[in-house]
Formats: sequence, C-alpha cells, structure tokens
Amino acid sequence: MNDMRLEAGLCDLNGRHDLYGFIHKGLRKAQADMLVRLGNEDMITASGRQTLADLRRLLALAALHIKHEETFIHPHMEDAGLLERQHDHHRDTFQRLENLIRGIEGAPSVLVPAHARRLYLAFGHYVAQDLLHMYEEETVAQPHLWASMTDAQIGAIEGAIMRSISPQNMAAFMDLIVPALSPAERATLPVAEI
Ligand SMILES: [Fe+2]
Repeated sequence: MNDMRLEAGLCDLNGRHDLYGFIHKGLRKAQADMLVRLGNEDMITASGRQTLADLRRLLALAALHIKHEETFIHPHMEDAGLLERQHDHHRDTFQRLENLIRGIEGAPSVLVPAHARRLYLAFGHYVAQDLLHMYEEETVAQPHLWASMTDAQIGAIEGAIMRSISPQNMAAFMDLIVPALSPAERATLPVAEI
C-alpha cells in the first residue's frame, strides 16, 4: 500500500491532467453495483439472466480498458512491468469468470444457487484486486507520468485512446462513467447543451 503518498499529497492532482480519473470512477461504480446485483439476484429469473449478460458486457469493457492502457499509456512509462503482470492476472480472471457464467447457464435449476455463489465470490475477489490495481495506477503510475510529461502530452495520449474507441463502445463507456462523476466533473464533459 502507498498510503504515505496520499498523506504526503504526492498524488494530488494540483491542476494536472487526470488521465485515469473518469474511467476508473466508472469502473469502480459499475463493478461495485454489479457485485451487489450478483449477491441479491435469483439467477434463474429473467432479471438474473440479464445480470449475467450485463456482467459479460462489463468484463468486455474492462478488458478493452486494460488494452487501451497497454497500447497507449505503458509505452510512455519506464517500467510498466508490474501493471502488465496485474493486467495478465485480470485477463486470466476474465476467462475464469466467463467459465463461471457458463456454469450457471448450463446448470439444472437446483444447482444454480451453488454456481451463482461461486461467481459472486470470484467476482468479489476480482473487484478487490482491481481496486488495488487502479489505486496503484492513480497513486504511483500517474505521478510518474506527471513528472516526465506535460499535460498537453498526456492529453494527446487520452485523445489517441478516445479516437480508437468505436461509437458503440464509447457510448457504453459513457454509461459507466457519467453516473460515477461529481456534478463539477460532469460539467467538464464535452456534450451538447441539453
Ligand atoms: Fe490498468
């Protein structure tokens, strides 16, 4: 843990460009909401099946997000090894979670609760790992980027990521991000007047 960095203010924004902030807020909220749904839904019902479909979509977006970081951000870091090992672990976890989803879908009704419990515990473990991973990125990796790059350079990375995203995936990312932002942060989004 790097709590001393927080206490010392070493990862405060101080007006610098927050490359990770919005998408990580979106992922934290979406993953926390999903964990609650996996805990209180009956997976035999239509609502439960919708939750599994929504989980698949969320995992696909999470996988796309770590690909963006590796493609566009990590080449600008001196040592992205730790973050990439954590990403490899995430990818293995995504496959295990998909297998657990299929386990629910293929199980006879009487066994669905047992399979659903496995998925709930496994997803909770993934969320715990990802919270720590995003913390590492925002408190250690981002200050290193600030030290070596200007905000214009960091903004150019963000622009390259945005341009690489399809309209459909951009809409899905915004569905995660917008409800997770503060009012002041939402006001910075480049949307047309409502
Ligand atoms: Fe990451």
